Amino acid sequence: MMKKNFVSTLLVFLLIACVIVAANASGHGKTRPLKKGILLVAFGTSISKAQISYKNIERAVRTRFPDIPIRWAYTSAFIRQKLAKQGQAIDSVEMALAKMMDAKFTHVAVQSLHTIAGWEFHDLHRNATLFGEMAGGVDSIIVGNPLLAADSDFERTVTALLKNIPKSRKKTEAVILMGHGTSHPSNAAYAALMYHFQRKDPNVFVGTVEGTPEIDEIKEMLLTKNIKTAYLIPFMSVAGDHAINDMAGAAEDSWKSILTYAGIKSVPVLKGTAEYDEIVEIWVDHLKKVLSRFD
Ligand code: CO
Repeated sequence: MMKKNFVSTLLVFLLIACVIVAANASGHGKTRPLKKGILLVAFGTSISKAQISYKNIERAVRTRFPDIPIRWAYTSAFIRQKLAKQGQAIDSVEMALAKMMDAKFTHVAVQSLHTIAGWEFHDLHRNATLFGEMAGGVDSIIVGNPLLAADSDFERTVTALLKNIPKSRKKTEAVILMGHGTSHPSNAAYAALMYHFQRKDPNVFVGTVEGTPEIDEIKEMLLTKNIKTAYLIPFMSVAGDHAINDMAGAAEDSWKSILTYAGIKSVPVLKGTAEYDEIVEIWVDHLKKVLSRFD
């Protein structure tokens, strides 16, 4: 009886020892030095002039967090392939995180530079979280919110953009912001943003290229109000392909053309939202929130 008890106690101890050894195997029992990193994640653009937006974001992030290394990733595979053909290699989120794992980062703040929490943001959130669970990987990976997340983001966005409308625009003239739009439920953010704008300036409208509200609806609103001139401003971080062609282009179905046919003169402003420092500050504050969770 005594002997049997002794053997089973010994077995339990051996088992515990094995578990402890296994738990330490990956890190050899040593704790790694703290190494924080920032991964900025944008949709991407292949228009080199539009890069001014990303440069502006990087400058703001570097100024606010001078000691933390910054890396970039683009979520658009299409843009990455296009750039790769021109000899410019930009990482996907997964590639960038794998490299950061390899470079022994312990805490990574992944900042979404998207405008709304659509498909791109949710995919980013999912994969970044999965990377954070890998054995021997980064201790903590947290994803920062896109531009429009909390109610206060809507208020700040409205204030920032109203401040940056060209001074030549009269209050009787319209401002139409061009959002991207999506089939994701978060598309509702665009109509919500228009609501927030119109409480401050009833002639500011928000439409989208690929979702709702559509430009035809906005056009009808302008005609009802008998508005003759509209400033067209991109509501995307970069003034890229959509702004240049779909908004301000000469093609029949561009917003400019659609409005011209309806007798409305348009004044395109080719500036991405990330060219406005007050907008960039919203993304940077979201990043700051993430970094503060590492302290
Ligand atoms: Co698009």
